[in-house]
Amino acid sequence: MHPRLAEKLMTAEEAAELIVDGDVIGASGFTLSGYPKAVAPFIAAKARRLHANGEPFSIALYTGASTGDEMDGELTRANALSHRIPYQSHPDLRNAINTGAVEFSDLHLSHVAQYVRSGFLKKPTVALVDAVDVTPEGHIYLSTSGGSTATYLMMADKIIIELNAYMGEGFKGFHDIFIPKPPPMRERIPIYKVDDRIGMPYVAVPPEKIAAIVQTNAPDGTRPLKDPADIDLTIAGHLVEFIKHERAQGRLPEGLPFQSGVGNVANAVLGTMAKDPTLGSVCLYTEVIQDSVFDLIDYDKLIFASGTALTLSIPGQERVKREMDMFKTKVLLRQQEISNHPEIIRRLGTVAMNTALEFDIFGNVNSTHVLGSHMMNGIGGSADFTRNAYLPIFMSPSVAKGGAISSVVPMVSHADHSEHSTKIFVTEQGLADVRGMAPVNRARHIIDRCAHPDYKPLLKEYLEYGLKHAPSKHTPQVLRRAFEFHLRYEQTGSMLPK
Ligand code: COA
Repeated sequence: MHPRLAEKLMTAEEAAELIVDGDVIGASGFTLSGYPKAVAPFIAAKARRLHANGEPFSIALYTGASTGDEMDGELTRANALSHRIPYQSHPDLRNAINTGAVEFSDLHLSHVAQYVRSGFLKKPTVALVDAVDVTPEGHIYLSTSGGSTATYLMMADKIIIELNAYMGEGFKGFHDIFIPKPPPMRERIPIYKVDDRIGMPYVAVPPEKIAAIVQTNAPDGTRPLKDPADIDLTIAGHLVEFIKHERAQGRLPEGLPFQSGVGNVANAVLGTMAKDPTLGSVCLYTEVIQDSVFDLIDYDKLIFASGTALTLSIPGQERVKREMDMFKTKVLLRQQEISNHPEIIRRLGTVAMNTALEFDIFGNVNSTHVLGSHMMNGIGGSADFTRNAYLPIFMSPSVAKGGAISSVVPMVSHADHSEHSTKIFVTEQGLADVRGMAPVNRARHIIDRCAHPDYKPLLKEYLEYGLKHAPSKHTPQVLRRAFEFHLRYEQTGSMLPK
């Protein structure tokens, strides 16, 4: 290591001492990939020590999206977090948000970096990043996620680098780092194809801002995806049939990129697309690249994948290490404000596929709040993509909690995506294509195609009641009855009447 860098080497424990009460940490990390894993547990230990002495210690944490137990879990359990943005999925942190112990701002992921640079959010005081290399001139090569890391590095006064040997220097070259100019000087973002490179492979920082370098060697702590359940495969099957039908009708040109959300259903959809011999090759303009990318590669179906995070199982991470050179010709990582940018999503004609907690018969979607109140994970990039997609698709099993909850309801208990943005709904029961339909027709279609048979009669009765008694026949919601499914669940533990 160059002597100018070697003098900044320290242990994770020493680096944690650089963090003080009230700091705003801007960290790398996106959907459990590329997050710093070594320093945060020592920040948590410091918080516990200070709290035991009756001294205050809490920090705000900004990231790309969710991080692993070493960060979100440890800091939450030590009561070290005052404020968290913009997305999370850790059970302890989720619980702390829902008990009111941690303030959480659930933001569109494409907005975060610009909000920070514009001063809408408190400026990060410290950037804490997982990187594969750093040079004496201050060129930082990020690891497995882009997130909003370049902006945090640019804005923070102090930088702590976790120099992670796991992916190693061979990982250099995956990133395309580009920060748009501020309005009103902003120019077009010149991405016309998913594989267009418009920036630099590293983030350049003034080297004097680097306060510490901590050497680590740790894979990302991603959760293993389950083998796809029958229900996921059924949803995926409906979707793939629909894609083929749209192609045959000339409404879905070959070459439009797909965005696919997080989790098992999303993984099953891409896996099914890979294995279907009648469906051609695909490209991805997406946020999270999951293990299904291997299916696409193995079936020779992947043209190119642009994302902001490589969220892979441990065997998946090992495979990237083994086949690094091949991967670099197929995959690139961007900052999330670019991967999720409305201009590019709209220009490329992206087909967006995301998962809903619930949707209503008129087409509004709730992705974030269970029963209107309990924060699940956050909106993530789902609205960045849905609102600007060529074709937005929402998927969900038709029921949750063993049938006690219907995912199709009279009115969503929290609205993330409005009826004006949504078009296609898929459950294991079937697919509703509501493009161009007025609300009542939409409702008939969604009930017929997507609702579980146990809930169909209840939803139909609600719609017919509304058509007789609601103040308008345009969207015949009956306010005094609109939440009767949710209220029944709260009172009896099931949305079905006894
Ligand atoms: N009401 C109450 N609980 C519900 C529910 C509903 N309507 N629908 C699902 N749930 C529960 C499930 O029972 C499950 O709970 P459990 O873990 O206690 O069993 C939990 O919610 C997760 O459901 P699951 O079917 O496993 O969903 P998932 O892992 O596919 O995640 C979302 C679904 C909506 C939570 C997830 O996709 C998400 O956070 N989306 C928002 C962000 C996003 O779309 N990101 C991608 C953008 S690029």
